[in-house]
Amino acid sequence: MCGIVGYVGSREATEVLIEGLKRLEYRGYDSAGVAVLNGSGVQVRKAVGRLSELEKTLSSNGVHGGVGIGHTRWATHGVPNEVNSHPHVSFDGKLSIIHNGIIENYRELKNELLEQGVAFKSDTDTEVVAHLLAKAYDGDLLKAVQNVLKRLRGAYAIAVCHADQPDRIVATRMGSPLVIGLGEGENFLASDVPALLKYTRKIIYLEEGWLAELTTCGVRIFDADMKPVEAAVSETSLTLDAAEKEGYEHFMLKEIHEQPRALAETIRGRIEGERVDIGELQLDPEMLRGVNRIAVLACGTSLYSGMVGKYLLERFTRIPTETWSASEFRYADPVIDPGMLVIAVSQSGETADTLEALRIVKAGGARTIAVCNVMGSSIPRHCDATLYTRAGPEIGVASTKAYTTQLAGFVLLAAGIGRTLGRVDSAEEAKLVQGLRDLPGQVKSLLDEDIVAVKRCAKRYKDVFNFMYIGRHFNYPTALEGALKLKEISYIHAEGYAGGEMKHGPLALVEGTFPTIAIAPEGKTREKLISNVQEIKARKGVVVMVSTHGDEEARELADYLIEIPACQEELSPILAVVPLQLLAYYTATQLGRDVDKPRNLAKSVTVE
Ligand code: G6P
Repeated sequence: MCGIVGYVGSREATEVLIEGLKRLEYRGYDSAGVAVLNGSGVQVRKAVGRLSELEKTLSSNGVHGGVGIGHTRWATHGVPNEVNSHPHVSFDGKLSIIHNGIIENYRELKNELLEQGVAFKSDTDTEVVAHLLAKAYDGDLLKAVQNVLKRLRGAYAIAVCHADQPDRIVATRMGSPLVIGLGEGENFLASDVPALLKYTRKIIYLEEGWLAELTTCGVRIFDADMKPVEAAVSETSLTLDAAEKEGYEHFMLKEIHEQPRALAETIRGRIEGERVDIGELQLDPEMLRGVNRIAVLACGTSLYSGMVGKYLLERFTRIPTETWSASEFRYADPVIDPGMLVIAVSQSGETADTLEALRIVKAGGARTIAVCNVMGSSIPRHCDATLYTRAGPEIGVASTKAYTTQLAGFVLLAAGIGRTLGRVDSAEEAKLVQGLRDLPGQVKSLLDEDIVAVKRCAKRYKDVFNFMYIGRHFNYPTALEGALKLKEISYIHAEGYAGGEMKHGPLALVEGTFPTIAIAPEGKTREKLISNVQEIKARKGVVVMVSTHGDEEARELADYLIEIPACQEELSPILAVVPLQLLAYYTATQLGRDVDKPRNLAKSVTVE
């Protein structure tokens, strides 16, 4: 969480910093700030609220100079006010720092500094690092950073500049992302590549513990022992348009509508004729035969895709599979053995809990596969193999295209592993491959219909306080994801349940106006879910049904009917979730919510 940007060059630093921060606002948007060096000390400007507030401050009280650092904040330590905003400045007023992450031992370091008479201005953990660095500085900023790092515990990406060395920025990372962008006579750093796309496509992904020193003459990189490193330079294929709204009112709506293309990309080259082909992962058949158990680790929406993944993996590979919230897994004293295959799912590839859970299983000798959207991010770099979902940049905090492409990724993985193990017959595989081929067109037709019922439903129920979502088997996670989408962007309380659990408690909530969304496409559990709906109707509850086109029983039962195209049961979560994304979107927009930046949340959760 939090986004950081740095620039050294001959442009006006604030322009580059603001442009970069705009692309990083998805990481946090409580407050923002910049610090610029121009030979007359450190000039800092900050503002509470969205980046636009900082822009207003800069237009009335600008700062000029070619070296600067900028930050957009998601508060961890200290409320979002101007004092707690980054950049923070050291007690001598010379050193300025931006930080993404958490310094876990900040209290002990702060006490030590207080005893030495250092006065603190903010409640943040970051300010501690500013003062430590100022104390360690003896004319060499790089050395000061290297020395202070030894004292820090936690996760961080840090960038620092000093008034006495006004030609440089020093940066480092441990557990939080940081990339370096290379230009001609200018250099950049940022939490994520889109922040740099306007200026450069040449990127260095900084490894954990590495230090970088940026000047107009170049970038020097060192490992934690200060040995110079020849870091690989990658040419990114991301484009700026991919990070623009392109005429849509919100990124979320754009990303919902990108799903046909994103799904086609996920599948591209991974189905051949009547077969699934995930050869690019180079999974060793011997290794797969030795797998006695699969664990899927993820957080948030990725966790729900992992829950569908479990059903798919068990269906096609017959290997027992468990799904874990990564934040639970890491403290559950999990049993890990070399026969375990771990699949880490993450849109960003940077979620702190998933990354830490991954480290634990690797230390235990498990094999690892990532299902991830962001090339070169930390989670794929820690895994033996990666299935990239190729959804393109997802900016809206509420995940949409990343989810459906993860689901398609799981279909490919499960069928691919299942075939290698001889547990999927060719007719079954051919049918699945055809289903995958049809998917982008089916999602497109769903979106083209514009789902009138969804809009009507959003209008009718936007003012209720509670919603329930129910589904079974493959679509139980769809119920959880539908409920999550609604609560995160509309702030309406919503819960997802397995249909079979209704009688064990949730049915008590049902009365006259209480709405339940029932996800009941064609499949083994449809009839069971229809029975759940009958029980709700018998208690005068209101039911919105998501059903397969032509389901007459659903039409008779439902107060609102949302139809999806007929498909195989295993693929139905991909289609069924689309109207639920739109329902959340239209409900939230009718309530006037900030859809792309819901309160208290951030897209990339890089702190625990
Ligand atoms: C945040 C985002 C969610 C996302 C979750 C996990 O909560 O708002 O959309 O599902 O993090 O992120 P990951 O990048 O690991 O999928």
